[in-house]
Amino acid sequence: MSDPYSDLGAQDTALQERIAAAMEARCLEPAQVAIRKAYLSDLKLPGNARALELGSGTGHVTKDLLDLAGAETAHGLEPSPVMVARAQETFGDDARLTFGIGDARRTGFEDASFDLVLMHTLLCHVPGPEDVVQEAFRILKPGGVLAICDGDYNTATAQIADFDPLEQLIRFMISQNVTNLWIMRQISGMLASAGFEAGARRGHGYVAEGEATYFLTVIDRGADRMVEERLLFPETAEALKAEARRRVSAKTFFGFMTYVSQIATRPLNH
Ligand SMILES: C[S@@+](CC[C@H](N)C(=O)[O-])C[C@H]1O[C@@H](n2cnc3c(N)ncnc32)[C@H](O)[C@@H]1O
Repeated sequence: MSDPYSDLGAQDTALQERIAAAMEARCLEPAQVAIRKAYLSDLKLPGNARALELGSGTGHVTKDLLDLAGAETAHGLEPSPVMVARAQETFGDDARLTFGIGDARRTGFEDASFDLVLMHTLLCHVPGPEDVVQEAFRILKPGGVLAICDGDYNTATAQIADFDPLEQLIRFMISQNVTNLWIMRQISGMLASAGFEAGARRGHGYVAEGEATYFLTVIDRGADRMVEERLLFPETAEALKAEARRRVSAKTFFGFMTYVSQIATRPLNH
């Protein structure tokens, strides 16, 4: 099975719901909010800035474009109807926020429409990420800002000692759910080819805290996928999920991944 996030709207509703719940849990974790705050809160935007999130999922990160980046309005574009419905349900009362179904490679927006475009953990899932970067260039105003943040997926780990069996679930999950593990190591070249001027690049270490809610969704989805692929019997998958939960209760669970953010600008004269 290829990365389900790359064509989420075509997956069955139960899988879209499961992924939406995992994304929502991730969005709400304080350590994840801190990462978004670190790269979104010092952007220089004009007054009345119009912002767009490509791959907006459940809409929480789209809301950050108002609260953290200071945009006046924000639109979230997303191919999964389940995600769009959930975002509208959560944020429908806020007139500054809108959500719609669409593809980041062909947004349909007019040239030079936005002051800020954000891709938060989108590009790793898109076959042909260059097309999304070029589309962002087209729809940004000259002087407009592109903000990209994605995982550096090869750093994802739950390993606490040599030969830790939980590590295999993480490695398997990443192999099944990410199209390009190396996106943030390749992004500078893509930005330069599209005509962007690169700005700040930062690394953000994410350590699962407290109940490790999001990391447990990764463990569970990895274990269930291994059962589907007949790599594990269901009883073994349940035992590994229980192991992760025992570690959380015993405060021995460790989950970590590096995220990398990159800011870029469409030059004023281009
Ligand atoms: C990992 S989720 C991140 C969602 C949100 N940005 C967040 O951080 O909570 C990736 C999202 O990108 C969406 N996506 C995948 N391919 C896309 C494309 N070609 N155009 C727009 N969105 C896409 C998926 O449907 C999914 O909702």
